[in-house]
Amino acid sequence: MIYARIAGTGSYLPEKVLTNLDLEKMMDTSDQWIRERTGIERRHIAADGETTVDMAERAARAALEAAGYGPQDVDFIAFGTTTPDMVFPNCGVLLQARLGCRGAPAFSVETACSGFMYALSIADKFVRAGEAKRALVIGAETLSRIVDWSDRSSAVLFGDGAGAVVLEPADAPGIFSTHLHADGRYKDLLYCGGGTDLSKTRRTIAMSGNEVFKVAVGTLGKAIKETLEANRIECSGLDWLVPHQANLRIIQATARRLGLPMERVITTVQEHGNTSAASVPLALDTAVRSGRIRRGQLLLLEAFGGGFTWASGLVRY
Ligand code: ACO
Repeated sequence: MIYARIAGTGSYLPEKVLTNLDLEKMMDTSDQWIRERTGIERRHIAADGETTVDMAERAARAALEAAGYGPQDVDFIAFGTTTPDMVFPNCGVLLQARLGCRGAPAFSVETACSGFMYALSIADKFVRAGEAKRALVIGAETLSRIVDWSDRSSAVLFGDGAGAVVLEPADAPGIFSTHLHADGRYKDLLYCGGGTDLSKTRRTIAMSGNEVFKVAVGTLGKAIKETLEANRIECSGLDWLVPHQANLRIIQATARRLGLPMERVITTVQEHGNTSAASVPLALDTAVRSGRIRRGQLLLLEAFGGGFTWASGLVRY
């Protein structure tokens, strides 16, 4: 039996930092309001001309270095993003050209904040099937380009960045299971136009924050339970929850419902804001590099986003 394991992680954050105090100068908001409602203190913003694939390349190279592989070793690229550089070619292909791993399949998944988790699930299947040996899984976003900077209720939430993992075959899991879901009935609660439906004239993020919050907390709790049950383990058996970093209150409410102490939850939302598909791999890499997450530990990853889409997975790092 072949399993997939994470051979290495990497991430990249743009140099420019936008603090809550900076936002106070741009709109009618306050550091106190943003901290109390979201936990966010600062976020990174891509430089002029810096794109999603630029950031993804930095994260991918860091993950490959950590895994001990070179770009030429990559034979599969799954790329989660909701802010692609172009309509086509997709970001996976653009990244493949940068890395020079010609011929390897490369594609993007546009499932908003759960894009990385969807990409991870697909890559896991290909490694397990013996069809990929060095799979690069990316979550990268330039959300600052689709934020409505005149809408204070959403503009304060988002940030830019990229995260990556390299999967390789292993005799033991690695990735135990992944669970993907979607419910398109919620499409109007969180969306961004700009596609071929010309009636959707809004090309920036539109969000009904309160409704998103309520559905997110309930759904994430169920997603975590589904993952635990599928693997016949209790929450107490987890070393770390690595949640989607949307809002500290969503993360705390989810942890509370599960009886999981916050000491076992990785949070980076304070520093990164909500980076959508980049959020989980960014949090993972940050915790790995700081020494909090160590080899052999059991992690539960989860994400929730526009659609709605949501996903979770159990991983032994
Ligand atoms: N600064 C100051 N005041 C603000 C701001 C701001 N940035 N934004 C809104 N307000 C005001 C509102 O106008 C309102 O004022 P009023 O009472 O005079 O009308 C008041 O604050 C309360 O607004 P609410 O929207 O009720 O505030 P809430 O406590 O719900 O927090 C928030 C809003 C932070 C958006 C919250 O609903 C949330 O986090 N929702 C989840 C959204 C999310 O995370 N989306 C990301 C994508 S999905 C995902 O990743 C899970």
